Amino acid sequence: MEFIKVNTQYKKHIALINLNRPKELNALNLQLMSELKSTLQTLDEDEDVRVIILTGNEKAFAAGADIKQMAGKTAIDMLNVDQFSTWDQIKKTKKPLIAAVSGFALGGGCELAMTCDMIVASESAKFGQPEIKIGVMPGAGGTQRLTRAIGKAKAMELVLTGNFISAEEALHYGLVNKVVPTEMYLEAAAELAEQIAQMSPVAAKLAKESVNRAFETHLDEGLHFERKNFYLTFASEDQKEGMKAFVEKRKPEFTGK
Ligand code: CAA
Repeated sequence: MEFIKVNTQYKKHIALINLNRPKELNALNLQLMSELKSTLQTLDEDEDVRVIILTGNEKAFAAGADIKQMAGKTAIDMLNVDQFSTWDQIKKTKKPLIAAVSGFALGGGCELAMTCDMIVASESAKFGQPEIKIGVMPGAGGTQRLTRAIGKAKAMELVLTGNFISAEEALHYGLVNKVVPTEMYLEAAAELAEQIAQMSPVAAKLAKESVNRAFETHLDEGLHFERKNFYLTFASEDQKEGMKAFVEKRKPEFTGK
């Protein structure tokens, strides 16, 4: 792979994906997104991996879709290539996916971080949807996910002005889970991942699916979905182990079965 690096054993049960086009601030070209898609599919099938961290580098998580690659395209080219359908795979990833963001997370970069389940940000992170400044608008979920995450007023402002918000502001608006000093952002994401990796992978997948459902359906339907997933956890050995360990006052050993 040319534009991403993968470490399947970054920590116990944790894989790390690095976006790796540093000179272009990790601009998301078609090849990078295709590599990311197949990597996520592979990691989702890897039984040893329980949590995935997606990161860039200190200067940029990603500065958006690759403007140079898109600049000369016609609407029909865009329709035919349908590049954002590749991004659906990120949403389809069943395992918890944490974005560790430092520097720029702009346009498609912000959209990519928001498609992950949680965002850990360095204090130097900057989030924004600046597509309006280049005569277009967000196309990989920005108008929808940002609005759901931070509310209409601020989302509208960011989408219409292209202004960036700081990590602290992003925390204030509920876009990110935590903000830490820049030298610690990956470590902080790993700590969160390690905590989740100790849980039952079966329960984690079902819980993730249920939380995501909250954005896609009305309350009754979501509650029904949650209840079914809750009952389904009782089909796992992890449920037996988790409850037995509680009764026996010991730490559970989850296997993902
Ligand atoms: N696409 C292609 N190349 C990009 C890029 C992008 N999104 N962002 C940065 N680069 C390239 C620059 O062209 C430059 O390359 P050269 O050295 O060959 O000129 C290199 O990365 C470094 O960038 P800068 O010199 O501009 O760095 P800077 O520190 O001065 O500025 C920045 C940083 C403010 C992020 C600026 O690069 C910028 O504004 N980038 C574009 C941000 C943007 O508009 N993103 C939205 C893209 S469209 C989109 O994402 C659609 C969608 O909804 C999916």
